[in-house]
Amino acid sequence: MTGAQGSGPVVRVAAVGDVHIDQDVVGRYRPALEQLGGCADVLLLAGDLTRHGTAAEAACVAREFRDLPVPVIAVLGNHDYHCDQVPAVTSTLRDAGITVLECETAVVETSGLTLAVVGAKGFGGGFAGRHASMFGEPEMKAFIRTTCEVSDRLGEGLRAAAACDVVVALTHYSPVPDTLVGEPLEIYPFLGSYLLAQAIDSAPTTLAVHGHAHKGSERGMTAGGVRVRNVAHPVIKQAYSVFNLSPRAAQIPVPT
Ligand SMILES: [Fe+2]
Ligand SMILES: [Fe+2]
Repeated sequence: MTGAQGSGPVVRVAAVGDVHIDQDVVGRYRPALEQLGGCADVLLLAGDLTRHGTAAEAACVAREFRDLPVPVIAVLGNHDYHCDQVPAVTSTLRDAGITVLECETAVVETSGLTLAVVGAKGFGGGFAGRHASMFGEPEMKAFIRTTCEVSDRLGEGLRAAAACDVVVALTHYSPVPDTLVGEPLEIYPFLGSYLLAQAIDSAPTTLAVHGHAHKGSERGMTAGGVRVRNVAHPVIKQAYSVFNLSPRAAQIPVPT
């Protein structure tokens, strides 16, 4: 368990990404998931819920994460897009009671506090000094335009949620390079973008969680001081991590 330590009420946020579920994984997480009510108020899924993004795999995800004691809020990852079945994947998850966000916000009232989860898959591009730019071929411009647009919408959502006690940015791609340490430098541009961090820093964001970087590191921080956590399952090596998040006014800095 990790997170801000305060004496007042907290929102307990459990999170995991990159569970990559197919038939052979169904049931693996379930015993721990059924204990969530004792340690968390909400479960966030940071994308790559499936291996290839088929509706059949999504049905396996739905079986694993349905009827839990806490609300489940997800974004999709690049694997969930692979077979071009995003509408079917999304509807299968939603039919199981899972909230699926793409540049959208979910608000949860818990322990007398209001939690806003602003979710977006995100996209790549790289990080300061080594970022692709809106230059050259139409294909390159389209690549970066995608990152710009999703980052803009993430920032809009986070700023719109500023009145909530706790605001969490949920993405699949990383906003910072800190949590990619362990991955080959050559693929950093495909693992995240500093534009996501700029969006996170444009609002009073409490915490940013992401997945995607299986060989990355757990902890990082944006330039603006927002804590970032890579919750990819191969990184956290447990069914979920739990973060105790105090309302902004009561927060104290936690070194990373
Ligand atoms: Fe993954
Ligand atoms: Fe991924």
